[in-house]
Amino acid sequence: MRKLLLATRNRGKVREIKGLLDGLPVEVLSLEDYPEIPPVEEDLPTFAGNALKKAETAARASGEIALADDSGLEVEALNGQPGVYSARFAGPGADDEANNRLLLEKLNAVPPERRGAVFRCAIALVLPGGETHLVEDSCPGRIAPSPRGSGGFGYDPLFIYEPAGLTYAEMDQEAKSKISHRGKALRRARMLLEDLLSKSGG
Ligand code: IMP
Repeated sequence: MRKLLLATRNRGKVREIKGLLDGLPVEVLSLEDYPEIPPVEEDLPTFAGNALKKAETAARASGEIALADDSGLEVEALNGQPGVYSARFAGPGADDEANNRLLLEKLNAVPPERRGAVFRCAIALVLPGGETHLVEDSCPGRIAPSPRGSGGFGYDPLFIYEPAGLTYAEMDQEAKSKISHRGKALRRARMLLEDLLSKSGG
């Protein structure tokens, strides 16, 4: 069976991505299975650029098909911050709690109607020979006044998906995946992957 390397060590992401690729004729691995591949510096100004950089590095180092996602939250009242800095908003090595606390602090005086935000996701697929593909998707929402819910990871407890009136963290994995930035982008990446696998003879 072909191998697909998810170019991440984030277990929350691995869980979500594996769920959405279930049933494909590939063995899904992550960078936890390749401790020798060093972390990639996510220093490019766009989600697409960082996703491509991570997938290209993983494909080159492993010789397998690699998939990388780069995602983050853009808050309107903060002119698109934290954006590509979402994972380290509160500083290098910041944890989810510190990032969420800082986001709430910065929006302290901002009323509900100005707390609009969008989650964006870019997914890069890179074949061992270097062929690259990119898909992007997004999900609009609003930042809650305080954390709600216990599921998910990252900014999930603060991101209200308005059609459901729930934060991402109050939705179960399946419900979140149906509407989330990453779920939508991954379903398109899955179709692309199916196509690429059938062309390369499985
Ligand atoms: P990266 O894509 O690994 O660079 O990190 C993106 C960062 O954005 C994560 O560390 C989270 O803080 C945040 N993020 C991305 N997707 C989600 C999501 O679905 N829920 C909550 N936070 C997310």
